[in-house]
Amino acid sequence: MDMGQVGALPHGGCCRTALSAEDKAGRDLFVRWCRDAGCEIAFDVVGNIFARRPGRDPARASVATGSHLDTQPHGGKFDGIYGVLAGLEVVRALNDAGVETEAPIDVVVWTNEEGVRFGPPLAGSSAFAGVTGVELVHAAVTLDGTTVRQDLETTGYLGSERPGDRKFDCFVEAHIEQGPILEAEKKSIGVVTRVQGLRWLRVTVTGMDGHAGTTPMNRRRDALLAAAEMVLAINRIARETDEWARLTNGRFIVEPNGGATIPGRVVFICDLRHPNTAALESLDQRMQAAMRGIAETGGVGIEIERLMDKPPVTFDAELVDAIRRSAQQLGYSCIDMLSGAGHDAMNVARVAPAGMIFVPCKDGLSHNEAESAEPEHLAAGAQTLLQTLLERAGRSKLP
Ligand code: GLV
Ligand code: MN
Ligand code: MN
Repeated sequence: MDMGQVGALPHGGCCRTALSAEDKAGRDLFVRWCRDAGCEIAFDVVGNIFARRPGRDPARASVATGSHLDTQPHGGKFDGIYGVLAGLEVVRALNDAGVETEAPIDVVVWTNEEGVRFGPPLAGSSAFAGVTGVELVHAAVTLDGTTVRQDLETTGYLGSERPGDRKFDCFVEAHIEQGPILEAEKKSIGVVTRVQGLRWLRVTVTGMDGHAGTTPMNRRRDALLAAAEMVLAINRIARETDEWARLTNGRFIVEPNGGATIPGRVVFICDLRHPNTAALESLDQRMQAAMRGIAETGGVGIEIERLMDKPPVTFDAELVDAIRRSAQQLGYSCIDMLSGAGHDAMNVARVAPAGMIFVPCKDGLSHNEAESAEPEHLAAGAQTLLQTLLERAGRSKLP
C-alpha cells in the first residue's frame, strides 16, 4: 500500500512508467527498504536492481526472485509490485527468524517490464538473458524524447554489471494471476508450468493529409479509415482461430490528429499471443496478409515491423515440482497453470531454471486501477516463495 502511494492515480491505481520520475521514486523506496533489511544493492547496465541477502557461501550462484515496479498508464498496485515485495518479505522473514542460507538470495527489480514509456517490453530481463543487446536498450527513445541511457543516468540507476556477470541458481517470480481462473476454481496458488508466446507488430499506415471539408470522399487516402478496417479484420481472424488466440491493439497514434484534417498517417501496435508456436506464426501471417490486402485496396502504404517475438516457454520441471511441493506442504490448494501474461521469468528461463507462483486477483482484473488481491492469498504466495527459495538456498541455521 505504501508503494501504491508512489504515482498514485485517482481510482486506486498507479502510473509509474519505466524510468519516469515516479518509477525513480518507487525504486528509491524499494532500495531504502532493502538497505534497512541489510541487503547489498547493485545495478546493472540497463538499470536492473539486485538486492542481495548474503549467504554463508558467497561463491554460490544466488537463488533469485523478484519482478517489476513499473506499471501500465492505468496500472494497479499489484502487477509486478507483488513479486518484488514478496521477495523483500522473504528477506525480512529470514532476518526475523535468524535464518542463514548457504546461497545468497537476490531480490530483483527488472527494468521496463511493461514497455509503455519506451519499448519493447521486458527490456531489462531481455538484456540480462542476452536476448536483446544492451546498446539497443540504451538507444531506445522514450515518449519524452530522451534516450534510455540518458534516463538511467538521470535517475541514478546506470550500473556497471554486464549481462552474464551474475549467475542465478534459479529464479522464482511471484505474481498475481491477472486472470479469472484461480478465483473461479477457488484455489490459493497457481503453479505456472508454461507461458504463452507473445509478438508485437508495429504497423504504419501512410495515406495523405487533406482538408476535411473540401476533399470529396472518393478522393481521399485516409490512413485512419484503412487502419480501422485492419483492426476489425484482424480481430475477426483472432476470434475465428480458437479459444486461445489473443489480439490487442492498445496503442494507436493518429497524425496529424487535427479534427479537420484527413489523417495522413497512423501507427498502431498489434499485441498477438498464443500458447502454440505454429499457431502464433499462422496468426501472424494471416493478419499481415489481411492488413496488406486492405492497404492495397484502400490505396494507402503499409509497413509492418516485428518489434518483439517471445516464443512460448516451458518452465524448469524440477523447480515447478519444488513450487508445487512447497504449496502442498503448506496446505494451500493449488493447480498447474498456463500464464496468459508475459513475464520476466520467460527471459530468465533462458539462462537459469525459472518458475512462477500465481495468486488470485479480484475478478481476474489487471492492467486496471481496480486491480486487487486478498491479503491471505498474497501471504500464501509469499510463504510458498519462501519455502521454495529456502529449499534451493539451503538453510544452515535453524531459528
Ligand atoms: C505484461 O504486462 C504483459 O503484457 O503480458
Ligand atoms: Mn503488466
Ligand atoms: Mn507483471
